[in-house]
Amino acid sequence: MHLFPLLFLALAEIVSARSLPAVEQRRSILNTTALANNSYYPPIPVNTNFADFVPNMKGIPLISINESVQPWNGAIKHVKTAPTPRTDALLAARSCGGPVVTNPGTFWYEQITHNGISPFINDGASWPVFRNVKTNYGAAGDGSTDDTDAIQNAINAGINGITRDQNQLGTTGQPAVIYLPRGVYILSKPLQLYVGTVLMGDPLSPPTLKAASGFNGNVLIYGKDPHQDATTNFYIGVKNLVFDSNNINKDTQFTIIDWSVSQATQLTNCVFNMPSFSSGHTGISMPEGGSGTYLGDLQINGGVVGIDMSNQQYMVKGVAFKFSTTGIKLSHCFDCIIQDCTFQDHSVAIDMTSNSVGSLVVLDSSAQDVGTFVATVNTGNGASSLILENVQNNGGGSAQTVMASGNAILAGNVADTWVMGNTYTPGGSPLGSYVGGATFTTPRSSNLLQNGNYFTMAPPTYQEYALDQFINIKSVSGLPVFGDGVTDDTANINSILSTYANCKIIFFPQGTYLVTNTIFVPAGSRIVGEAWSAISAVGSNFWNPTSPVPMVQVGNAGDVGVAQISDMLFTVADVLQGCQLLEINIAASNPGDVGLWNSHFRVGGAAGSKVQTNCAGSPADCKAAFGLLHLTATSSAYIEDMWGWTADHDLDGGNGQNIAVGRGALIESSSASNGGRGTWLVGTAFEHNTLYQYNFHNAKDIYAGMQQSETPYWQGPGFAEDVLDPAPWAPALVTPYGDPDYSNCGGGDSQCRMAWFEYITSSTNLFLYATGFWTFFNGNDLSNCNNNAACQTNAIDIQGSSAIYMYGVNTKSNLNMVTGDNGLLVTMNNNPGGWGGVVAAMLAEG
Ligand SMILES: *[C@@H]1O[C@H](CO)[C@@H](O)[C@H](O)[C@H]1NC(C)=O
Ligand SMILES: *[C@@H]1O[C@H](CO)[C@@H](O)[C@H](O)[C@H]1NC(C)=O
Ligand SMILES: *[C@@H]1O[C@H](CO)[C@@H](O)[C@H](O)[C@H]1NC(C)=O
Repeated sequence: MHLFPLLFLALAEIVSARSLPAVEQRRSILNTTALANNSYYPPIPVNTNFADFVPNMKGIPLISINESVQPWNGAIKHVKTAPTPRTDALLAARSCGGPVVTNPGTFWYEQITHNGISPFINDGASWPVFRNVKTNYGAAGDGSTDDTDAIQNAINAGINGITRDQNQLGTTGQPAVIYLPRGVYILSKPLQLYVGTVLMGDPLSPPTLKAASGFNGNVLIYGKDPHQDATTNFYIGVKNLVFDSNNINKDTQFTIIDWSVSQATQLTNCVFNMPSFSSGHTGISMPEGGSGTYLGDLQINGGVVGIDMSNQQYMVKGVAFKFSTTGIKLSHCFDCIIQDCTFQDHSVAIDMTSNSVGSLVVLDSSAQDVGTFVATVNTGNGASSLILENVQNNGGGSAQTVMASGNAILAGNVADTWVMGNTYTPGGSPLGSYVGGATFTTPRSSNLLQNGNYFTMAPPTYQEYALDQFINIKSVSGLPVFGDGVTDDTANINSILSTYANCKIIFFPQGTYLVTNTIFVPAGSRIVGEAWSAISAVGSNFWNPTSPVPMVQVGNAGDVGVAQISDMLFTVADVLQGCQLLEINIAASNPGDVGLWNSHFRVGGAAGSKVQTNCAGSPADCKAAFGLLHLTATSSAYIEDMWGWTADHDLDGGNGQNIAVGRGALIESSSASNGGRGTWLVGTAFEHNTLYQYNFHNAKDIYAGMQQSETPYWQGPGFAEDVLDPAPWAPALVTPYGDPDYSNCGGGDSQCRMAWFEYITSSTNLFLYATGFWTFFNGNDLSNCNNNAACQTNAIDIQGSSAIYMYGVNTKSNLNMVTGDNGLLVTMNNNPGGWGGVVAAMLAEG
């Protein structure tokens, strides 16, 4: 084969004419010593006060478990009530042309029957999932009454004398939606949320939470559960609310929301109103760090800082910042991406001068009347890499687009891609070049765009539909569905979905819906859960790993239409090596018609599954699922805010979790097979899967913004020497599932035979922005990776592919960041920065 650079076509690459000579434009980062030497030298240290950026594997004790709820026996319990044949009325409801937009006066979710339960705790059938702060807890919402206690009581409420503030009902035992009808709620002290809390307003008229003038405290809402470290604050939501701190002196240190949280959290559709150009107020801060994925669709007005970001990684999408000294401050972020944001009237729109940034990507964003769009530091290496693409700065006069260590290096708009950092480009040095500011061409596929920007979409609330356009899946007469974790709900869920496709929106109240065969989601479906309602697989249909069966199948190949899923969780009740949790085949009529928002996978680590209790031993005994997400060739989907988690620890206690789920996300979606359409992954994370986290196989026309991953903690030397990839899944199913076979590794090389983070084969037109791929353990031992010792050989592989554009590539403790055919080799040694290695631009044009 040819050497890697020879095959590449030269890209149009123009050194930015606007760049000033203060910064060295292009310098080879060739370091043959480093390349020849497989011993790793530590990265350039970032300034961070958080020792917390390491996994903390502590769960929440679940003391009130109902031992008789054993989903793994569900296959033999079957239905409590025999299904009755569908009635004429139900059949008549078919194909009614889609739910009818009615612009109702009241939000459907406020009115619908609330019969969600918490299946795995004692008396969980009477667990209050839905909590209306006015009608159930006496809040006034009248703009004058102090509603703090009423709302906090709604948050804290439990059963049998166990309240949520006691931290005794596990991560999964205490789901709660605290619902605020329209109104103005006065708070005199902070509200405290917990893991499992969703604080949600009426989106038709978002209620205001307003700080009283004598507010006692300096945070309006603690989103972070105080019992858990930031990195285990999962499953928390805040949406459809207005926050107001205008009663607090503008010079007082004050934060609207402490959002020191991690994956499977949702902060969306909120307005933050703070005194304009205050010197003390911050909209969102993360003082304790976290491992987040996604937040977005917010308006942040006033304050000194809109968002003070201190997190391992984050995607910030669709936020309008106005009237603050700084829009977003990256106090710390190894891997950040800002997309579709607007900035108006700031001294600095984005401040990343903290010296604690791996890379920042800014896409499809604009600034108006700002002094500086991005203030950064000139490191001359991988740290603080900066990528701007399709960015407008209508600043006028002296406005700068990039200031680096006080030097103006870029002004005006960036039409294409502007990069500062280490670059690997077709025709460039195979050992990379450092650029202090250079422009590249990124030929975005037109099917990924809307008005020139990458397509994005806010999570649907379905607020435009009245209650009569919804079906509560647990309230259909003649077709009982239980969601109780013990009844087999397969047949009746399928009946209801097929009956109401193209007609109604289906609401799944909180619970665990046990299924023994595939749930088929037909074209014309819209599904909404409640605080992550679970669909959980059990039984022999999911046992054959050579012929995997989807638990949830969305459409058939060739279908084109609507299929949207929000606020759901996909899991398994038993060790099911033939279970593919979610398979999407349908293509979207229009971008966003097929999509998932705030929906996640969880395998193990929680009550209600044998995986929680039976997987402390060899991973070979715990092939708990075949794979998590499969986007087949014919699919076209928009996926936003998704965590594909194979458990590394037990969220509901302390069981060991050595789980070998085969595959994370298999992405085969291709415009060549789906009628010329694109696919979008906006804020996703896949962790601890055995063969790979992301596999792009024959994929074409894909956008991904933020991909975060971690390797299984049990992989690598020191623990299960006999479980080296592709084991325990050997032989790998290269056909038809595109599995990697690890033939690149020596037979016993346990640091090579670890899960690929990103495995790309035979793919084209992939636009992958902001990847954070972290390795923390070898053989379940954190100390093996101390000081960022290289404890995994490979991270990303690109084979037989063309037009692969990767911007903001970050790895931790991986010796080789990128490998591929044609001799492609990008090492951490040559790209130190961030949490290990940082590459600003990795372009493979084949
Ligand atoms: C090259 O890499 C070695 C480590 O292998 C390091 O000690 C050395 O400082 C590097 N040289 C340069 C010029 O960066
Ligand atoms: C390789 O790196 C290690 C650790 O930095 C060092 O001890 C060793 O001398 C290096 N070997 C070469 C050939 O540079
Ligand atoms: C435990 O769960 C079983 C099965 O759902 C149920 O019948 C029983 O009432 C529950 N017990 C308690 C104390 O909640």
